[in-house]
Amino acid sequence: MTIVYKADPVRGAEWSRLITDLAPDLDFRIWPDIGNASDVKYLITWEPPENIPQLFPNLQAVFSTGAGVDQFDMSRLPDHIPLVRMIESGIIDGMVEYVTMSVLALHRNLPAYLRAQAQQRWEPALFPPAHRIRVGVLGLGVLGQAVIRNLQHFGYTCMGWSRSGRAVESIPTFGGNAGLKDMLAQTDILVCLLPLTTETQGFLNAKRFGQLPRSASLVHVGRGGHLIEGDLLEALDTGHLAHAIVDVTPQEPLPADNPLWSHPNVWITPHIASITQPETAVQSFIDNVRRIEANQTPHGLVDRSKGY
Ligand code: NDP
Ligand code: OXD
Repeated sequence: MTIVYKADPVRGAEWSRLITDLAPDLDFRIWPDIGNASDVKYLITWEPPENIPQLFPNLQAVFSTGAGVDQFDMSRLPDHIPLVRMIESGIIDGMVEYVTMSVLALHRNLPAYLRAQAQQRWEPALFPPAHRIRVGVLGLGVLGQAVIRNLQHFGYTCMGWSRSGRAVESIPTFGGNAGLKDMLAQTDILVCLLPLTTETQGFLNAKRFGQLPRSASLVHVGRGGHLIEGDLLEALDTGHLAHAIVDVTPQEPLPADNPLWSHPNVWITPHIASITQPETAVQSFIDNVRRIEANQTPHGLVDRSKGY
């Protein structure tokens, strides 16, 4: 059974080694060495090739190497070819670490202390207990829920918003436009963990920032397409928002002359909030291939009507 991998070749070599150990029956090939295209049953990719169905006439499923699937043109994938996103413990742990680090840094005033250090100022300030910090999470999926569970260990007051307004144990949840307004009004730190879809494009804009209390902060780990960059800069410049930690930007890599780089109240990281970890992802991928072969639904099957 032939599998083609089309993503970062360095990690591909690790995938290849792990698959040889764990599932020697799979013929794992790294793009562009695809062998006989009509033997290819599964494609796993971050940068999908154009014309997938024409390229691989006997394809059974397409997998994303990442949690997001916004890089796929779903209109060009026939319905009989399922699209499966990545759910694996390594990517969850990475996101939990990044968002926890960001919330702790904001709560404990790290941006102000780094500015003070640059000017040799020794200026201790009081800080509130964790339970007084209200964290609102946009997106209550695999990652949003894992992040909330961990923040609760530190005592933060967590809330979440999703499309369906789904219930999540031990936190208030919100749904729909009215629910969003309610959650934003009581959020000190807003974490964006939405998928990028036609509905969420440009979601982080002046209207949403205006609905947050003055001096709220943003941790943006969803997708660059969520963010209206000019609206963020304006909200920071007027002091309505205190700080933004931005991992994903409208253009990636972020151009050197982009004002986000030099804004004193912005921290940028280069889309590394989390990364699929081959040692755990390969096992999830193999399990899903086995599930499809046994006519079972794979974990992370994308609902094309919703786009995530
Ligand atoms: P899931 O599909 O598990 O969860 C998505 C959540 O978003 C669900 O709760 C869903 O609502 C909600 N949602 C979707 N559309 C809307 C909408 N229009 N309005 C309100 N809520 C909506 O995704 P994951 O948690 O696994 O991943 C989330 C995203 O994180 C990825 O799509 C990707 O963009 C980003 N990501 C970023 C990384 C980075 O390094 N920066 C790494 C990995 C992921 P409902 O529950 O009602 O369906
Ligand atoms: C992902 C990502 O979606 O790394 O997995 O952004």
